[in-house]
Amino acid sequence: MLNIAVFVSGRGSNLRAIHEAVERGTLDAKIVLVLSSRDDAPALTWASARGIPTASLQGIAADEVATNIVQHLESAGTDFIALAGYMKRIPEEVVRWYRGRMVNVHPALLPSFGGKGMYGERVHKAVLDAGVRVSGATVHIVDEEYDRGPIVLQRCVPVEENDTPASLAERVLAVEHALLPEALQLFSRGQMEVRDGRVQSTKQR
Ligand code: GAR
Repeated sequence: MLNIAVFVSGRGSNLRAIHEAVERGTLDAKIVLVLSSRDDAPALTWASARGIPTASLQGIAADEVATNIVQHLESAGTDFIALAGYMKRIPEEVVRWYRGRMVNVHPALLPSFGGKGMYGERVHKAVLDAGVRVSGATVHIVDEEYDRGPIVLQRCVPVEENDTPASLAERVLAVEHALLPEALQLFSRGQMEVRDGRVQSTKQR
């Protein structure tokens, strides 16, 4: 079983999907902390209402953010981190501390349509502007580079002729809600690990 900290910045629908998977019993995990970059994230209110410990980084001096995050994570007994709509860069110190134990969900098929500034609806607008026929969702390990870490799972979502960024976002989000808990369960069961910069099944040994 994994003790998961979920990092959020806004709505928190992926947080709710993780919570539902735990409640359903399809994810052997406990959400031990919801950490937000903003005090007013609806996801924080949702978590507090359910008695899930929460923390916000708003107002913390830049040079104290990393230490603050690690302190929150360690005192909550975190084994694994899920970035679920977290819009701030993760300090390198935190990446090092949790190397191979932190995933991010991204609303496109990485390595396309990722990188600094590519988040939320901007991603879907870029996808539509590029005229690609297929988009999707990616769960990847977090490393020092934005959206570049080893890929854990990906799932396709066809782009429709009349899609708008909002309509595409809605279908991709539904896929994210399945993909992120599924990816977390692979780690919870010890079925995946990072080897030679790739996420590999532990069965391939
Ligand atoms: C999700 O679509 C997630 O993939 C995206 O933000 C949304 C958060 O929704 N993340 C990124 O774009 C990160 N690059 P949620 O708060 O309802 O889970």
